[in-house]
Amino acid sequence: MNQAALERLEALRRESVLGGGEARLRTQHQRGKLSARERLDILLDDESFVELDRFVTHRCEEFGLADQKVLGDGVVTGWGTIHGRLIYVFSQDFTVFGGSLSEAHAEKIVKVQELALKNGAPLVGLNDSGGARIQEGVASLGGYAEIFLRNTLASGVVPQVSVVLGPCAGGAVYSPAITDFVYMVRGTSFMFVTGPGVVKTVTHEDVDMEGLGGADVHAETSGVAHFAHDTEAESLASVRELFRYVPQNNTEKPPSGDATDPHDRRDAALLSVVPDNANRPYDMLDVIRAVVDDGVFYELHAGFARNLATGFAHLGGHSVGVVANQPAVLAGVLDIDASDKGARFVRFCDAFNIPLVVFEDVPGFLPGVSQEHGGIIRHGAKLLYAFCEATVPKVTVITRKAYGGAYDVMNSKHIRGDVNLAWPSAEIAVMGPKGAVEVLFRKEIAASDDPAAATEAKMAEYREKFAHPYVAAARGYLDDVIDPRETRPRLINALDMLSAKRDSNPTKKHGNIPL
Ligand code: HXC
Repeated sequence: MNQAALERLEALRRESVLGGGEARLRTQHQRGKLSARERLDILLDDESFVELDRFVTHRCEEFGLADQKVLGDGVVTGWGTIHGRLIYVFSQDFTVFGGSLSEAHAEKIVKVQELALKNGAPLVGLNDSGGARIQEGVASLGGYAEIFLRNTLASGVVPQVSVVLGPCAGGAVYSPAITDFVYMVRGTSFMFVTGPGVVKTVTHEDVDMEGLGGADVHAETSGVAHFAHDTEAESLASVRELFRYVPQNNTEKPPSGDATDPHDRRDAALLSVVPDNANRPYDMLDVIRAVVDDGVFYELHAGFARNLATGFAHLGGHSVGVVANQPAVLAGVLDIDASDKGARFVRFCDAFNIPLVVFEDVPGFLPGVSQEHGGIIRHGAKLLYAFCEATVPKVTVITRKAYGGAYDVMNSKHIRGDVNLAWPSAEIAVMGPKGAVEVLFRKEIAASDDPAAATEAKMAEYREKFAHPYVAAARGYLDDVIDPRETRPRLINALDMLSAKRDSNPTKKHGNIPL
């Protein structure tokens, strides 16, 4: 090989890793942000990254850009591995035109999206961008649309993850929004459709970037983000953890866990989790952690709609999606946000062959004008629809309340729950004792000499009849009532038994989930 040709290649390679230059990289670091390549180093297994398209440059001749070409054009793309498994990646480089998206930059992202789809491997996008490259006009907007299209086509085929590590504004937010999981970092990442300036002009509201679209806002209030971390390193390490649970694509099984936690482990602590008083709260996360392998629960959306917990775990080595009512928050009631959160999670698990394990203690749907006017009917229907259509193995444990419509929704036998178990503390009824007595015996109680005592007596009668699991078990709506200590072995046994489950839905183009 001609020595000069090799030297030219080396020089171009060196140039390509410089991005927008040292001064801009210093600014990036001063803001507490890593470079596009440093981020990939943390995300991927050591030495596994293979870069694509390092010589691509933009083609814009306007605004003096003809002589401002940077190799790679503001995005580093390629593939590598996480835990030894293939992952496609793109990482936007804010030091090059603010990471803005040109036609060429978009084409690079589209190339890895298509590779991910064709080869059945996940795609992780690291976003740090000022949005559409203003100088390129519609070519840049078109680039975004090409990306949105492929995000949509890949949805349910390969897992897609977005890590937002800088600005992500305007229409650019819709790529992360379509992907399955969104990670953000406090203080440096922002997502909004219109920034604080436009908000001030239109609605006269004063708000800064963090208050409008920072990590905590999206992880707690809007639900756009599944995670908020303090540092980029934590965020990227957390993405690596996610891949312990999700498969490469929709035709593969999820990865098995390698914990040595005994499958027959019985946990006596489960006997005292549920308080004797049915109205006292307890933390369902204690139940989940006592049951899953090594007590490790990878919780998603931990700060949003906390009345329903969702996340991944291994159970006897099986990767599972856990959906759990949380009695410690709003008594575990289902509301609009919890329904949305649960529905999207259930659909992810169903799309990617991840069995569902439901821990149920739910007093019903949240009453109130704001919930009704906000469309709790429409939103609650999403969770119901998602559980109904899911064909993966579906197991439920009722720990305490399973009241009303929420009993049906939370993976009941009637909507194809495969194994439905209850603890002896379970109460399965149309509603709680107080509400039921007020409806059924209103006149009788009003006419009595001592209405309070009459109410108590009727409630005791009602509890005797309904506040236990045996009516449901007598009909086969529960497969068994179990000792709480047996929960782990019984769930693992159910998952083993269901591991070759096959079920399907009627052939259709797609259903019409109530959005
Ligand atoms: C071209 C851009 C750019 C853009 C930033 N830059 N955004 N160049 N197109 N969209 C350049 C800047 O000129 C600057 O170049 C460098 O990137 C860093 O930007 P700064 O403004 O110095 O950085 P900072 O102060 O951190 O502010 C970051 C920012 C701001 C908040 C992102 O740059 C900004 O508001 N940019 C415009 C955002 C925007 O409105 N984009 C369009 C959104 S609409 P130099 O050479 O000085 O380093 C959209 C539509 C998507 O994206 C379509 C989907 C449907």
